Amino acid sequence: MKVVVGNNDYISELIANEFIKVINVKPNCVLGLATGTSPLKVYANLIKANKEGRVSFKDVSTFNLDEYIGLEGTHVQSYRYFMNDNLFNHIDIDKERTHVLKGTGDYLAYAKEYDNLIAQAGGIDIQILGIGSDGHIAFNEPGASFDSLTHVETLAESTIKDNSRLFNDISEVPTKAVTMGLKSIMNARKIVLIATGKNKAQAIYNLLKGPKTEQVPCSILQDHKDCTIYCDEEAYSLVK
Ligand code: F6R
Repeated sequence: MKVVVGNNDYISELIANEFIKVINVKPNCVLGLATGTSPLKVYANLIKANKEGRVSFKDVSTFNLDEYIGLEGTHVQSYRYFMNDNLFNHIDIDKERTHVLKGTGDYLAYAKEYDNLIAQAGGIDIQILGIGSDGHIAFNEPGASFDSLTHVETLAESTIKDNSRLFNDISEVPTKAVTMGLKSIMNARKIVLIATGKNKAQAIYNLLKGPKTEQVPCSILQDHKDCTIYCDEEAYSLVK
């Protein structure tokens, strides 16, 4: 794993440039996308690059990591809504080629098909990840199998608490999610992970220095051949 430390503006620009490079080499590439606060500046940079004509998403396909169970894609806290609002509505992408797991209806059937859909699209060329304070990636919580494909996960108490900042009340945070598994993520050809803030320091320490164990889901990334960890000074503070 490579590590890059810098402020959020700096690392977000570097990550956006990695995406732009991949897309410009392979215009019909497959992007793996995340929601949450961490990738917001990366997406802002991609929107800017698209508007300036430095990159086109015309032939790109995307697959998102996860979705809350119980929320329709039109719900303001759903991850489909997040992606439309923070990226897809502002770039020249064909929405038909954007995939977000379903949180309602026959979400299990779609989840079961998801890894096949990714494979049929050619596999993920570049995957962006955030990280939970408990070391989760996507919504693979401590104890998730390193062999997991897309599945249903019960959210850890700490995740529900972390994510409650975006809801009116903690009781509104869904307790389950559908998520790509750790094996699904490891199949990506290139992975970039972004972490900022003191809240992520222990998870980044465990990722970079700790043993590889299913109790620390992100530790599986130690085995990935092309994975770069981008963090700010605060997230990196326990490693030094
Ligand atoms: C989101 C996701 C989660 C987040 C993580 C960090 O699609 O898969 O693993 O990346 O919970 O969230 P933020 O960035 O909001 O701190």
